[in-house]
Amino acid sequence: MADEAADVLALALRLAREAGAIQRDRYETRLEIASKSGPIDLVTEVDRACEAHLVAALRAARPADDILAEEGGAHAESGATWRWVIDPLDGTVNYAHAYPCFCVSIGVERDGVRTVGVVYDPLRDECFEAVRGRGARRNGRRIRVSEAKTVGAALLATGFAYDVRDSARDNLAEFTRAVKAAGGVRRDGSAALDLCYVACGRFDGYWELKLHPWDVAAGILIVEEAGGRVTDLAGGPVPPTGHEIASSNGAIHEELLRVLRGVV
Ligand code: IPD
Ligand code: CA
Ligand code: CA
Repeated sequence: MADEAADVLALALRLAREAGAIQRDRYETRLEIASKSGPIDLVTEVDRACEAHLVAALRAARPADDILAEEGGAHAESGATWRWVIDPLDGTVNYAHAYPCFCVSIGVERDGVRTVGVVYDPLRDECFEAVRGRGARRNGRRIRVSEAKTVGAALLATGFAYDVRDSARDNLAEFTRAVKAAGGVRRDGSAALDLCYVACGRFDGYWELKLHPWDVAAGILIVEEAGGRVTDLAGGPVPPTGHEIASSNGAIHEELLRVLRGVV
């Protein structure tokens, strides 16, 4: 892989492990926790510490690149070839409750195209990675989506946005339909890991309605490179913001979309 994507991947892998080490060190310690958009949208000092580390290290290593980082540590849109889209800690509510499901997510676009993705789970020491056209890996080994053929046999995952208490578009109708149709439905609290679990076949599908670019920048590429499919809920291309996605092993995709829309 003698090109710039290989350098970008190597850097993303190093940075994800470094931020993951911060998460592991501070896990189950007393944390400063604040709320952001509302009472259930939390941010901890570890989210901020991870982001500060990632942004500083990235600026030192690749000063010309653009960075979009969730907690506001960087939002540069200069039109650079490479743009890093960073969720310094995906699964903040889990982290704040010491529920062991969270990660670092780093997606990198080249000229607006998702090109490199790394998601690191520091407690399980699982590192998911993909480079466009070169497959997806977990801890260096190739991964593939599941072979489930029907939603009835599928284990699905979803999530709910932080405005769930107030918004009519709350994903509960879709959730109810999926619970009635699927083999099982999980809500684990980390969109980036949910996508990686579709990529490695633990989940057969995952959908969510109100995501942010940093939640999915790495995971979408990892699913696609593992042979899966990612669309919006109407089956069209995922918008660049990635706000609404349905992902699956491909085989159950059309049925999953019908179930979510309630047209079966
Ligand atoms: C959240 C998690 C959660 C999903 C939310 C996201 P955060 O990200 O990925 O699983 O349901 O929509 O906002 O706040 O933990 O980085
Ligand atoms: Ca997130
Ligand atoms: Ca986050």
